[in-house]
Amino acid sequence: MAITDCKCYPTITVAVFGVGAVGLAVAEGARYRKASKIIGIDINPDKFALGKPMGITDFVNPKDHEKPTHEVIRQLTGGGVDFSFECSGNLDVLREAFQSTHDGWGLTVMLGIHPTPRMLPLHPMEFFDGRRLVASIFGDCKGKSQLPSFAEKCGRGVSES
Ligand SMILES: NC(=O)c1ccc[n+]([C@@H]2O[C@H](COP(=O)([O-])OP(=O)(O)OC[C@H]3O[C@@H](n4cnc5c(N)ncnc54)[C@H](O)[C@@H]3O)[C@@H](O)[C@H]2O)c1
Repeated sequence: MAITDCKCYPTITVAVFGVGAVGLAVAEGARYRKASKIIGIDINPDKFALGKPMGITDFVNPKDHEKPTHEVIRQLTGGGVDFSFECSGNLDVLREAFQSTHDGWGLTVMLGIHPTPRMLPLHPMEFFDGRRLVASIFGDCKGKSQLPSFAEKCGRGVSES
């Protein structure tokens, strides 16, 4: 979801795993694109208040639930979100993010930087359900051609809903 083109996705549901600096930017991008539900997932309960003005509509604290987070999210969304974003740098969280998307078309975007030598915690067969996983650095923003217009829009307050 590059923020600089003008498409909107009013029926899209999004889960943001890790509502820190990166996760808040993801929420803002999803809100700008008019996603219908933006679920923030964080173990720090203070993050909901921070995330609300950036577009987070629902908050899940994994510590409040007995069942795995992906089950909570699938229940909240009737089968899973369209897009999940892993913004914590934690591989177990990445697995939850992957499993939180809808089978058939769900897309997980890995943004967290994973410094350990651990490999991806996904079985190859899980990809046959139609879920996809990609990674992104700086939202794939092109510094020369896209950043100036992005900065100009921010200056004009395009984040207004
Ligand atoms: N891909 C990129 O372009 C890019 C750019 C900058 C940073 N990063 C990486 O993104 C990640 C996040 O960076 P940040 O600056 O937002 O960090 P941050 O510390 O501001 O945010 C991380 C958030 O994740 C939450 N968190 C930690 N463990 C969790 C868990 N088990 N379940 C749910 N939430 C959990 C924390 O409470 C915190 O709110 C880091 O790995 C960082 O290196 C990536």
